[in-house]
Amino acid sequence: MVFDAYGTLFDWASASERSRDVLGDRWREFAELWRQKQLQYTWLRSLMGRHADFWKVTSEALDFTLESFGIADAALRPRLMGAYLQVAAYPDARHCLELLRAAGLSTAILSNGEPRMLEAAVESGGLRSLLDAVLSVEAAGTYKPHPSVYRLATERFGAEPGQLLFVSANGWDAWGAAAFGMQVAWCNRTGQRPERLPGGPAWTVRSLAEVPGVLGIG
Ligand code: LAC
Repeated sequence: MVFDAYGTLFDWASASERSRDVLGDRWREFAELWRQKQLQYTWLRSLMGRHADFWKVTSEALDFTLESFGIADAALRPRLMGAYLQVAAYPDARHCLELLRAAGLSTAILSNGEPRMLEAAVESGGLRSLLDAVLSVEAAGTYKPHPSVYRLATERFGAEPGQLLFVSANGWDAWGAAAFGMQVAWCNRTGQRPERLPGGPAWTVRSLAEVPGVLGIG
């Protein structure tokens, strides 16, 4: 069982929500632009052949977002980046992982995040004891949805792609893993339309609470 991190186990919007006192009612709009640019920069840097780790990409996306919102508050940048190290785990994450592990399955994260960010998120989310492995794209030197990233999971578990179930709330990531050959459950938390890309999830669920049921557990 392999999980995406941001958007799937961890709520990236929580980093901006914590600065609601400064961002005001636009905090969600702010969070969404920050996320959109962060992902764009991963794809663009991959195409440019100019990889930089997710911490750098996230901070550059933040600079773009702060400027877009006309915010020049010097204290806010480190505060928002710091909050990214303490993103909240979604309430459905822990129970899902507990059920899967009780059924004897191995669990892992496979994420764009660089190791330090992932370690911090796992720690603050209290998920450490529920994961066998935390895999970062840094070992592949590029970003999802490049096949070499999904291969990190098949190599770690000595498995064929079709033997692994990958869970992501990010449609493009779900499609990417499916195109690589994994079995995929798309956790479509926000009712997004299906992507028009090669591959496609075998299952679509609305929350992680439904994932064990896909495997006949719980
Ligand atoms: C990750 C990205 C998709 O965690 O947010 O890999």
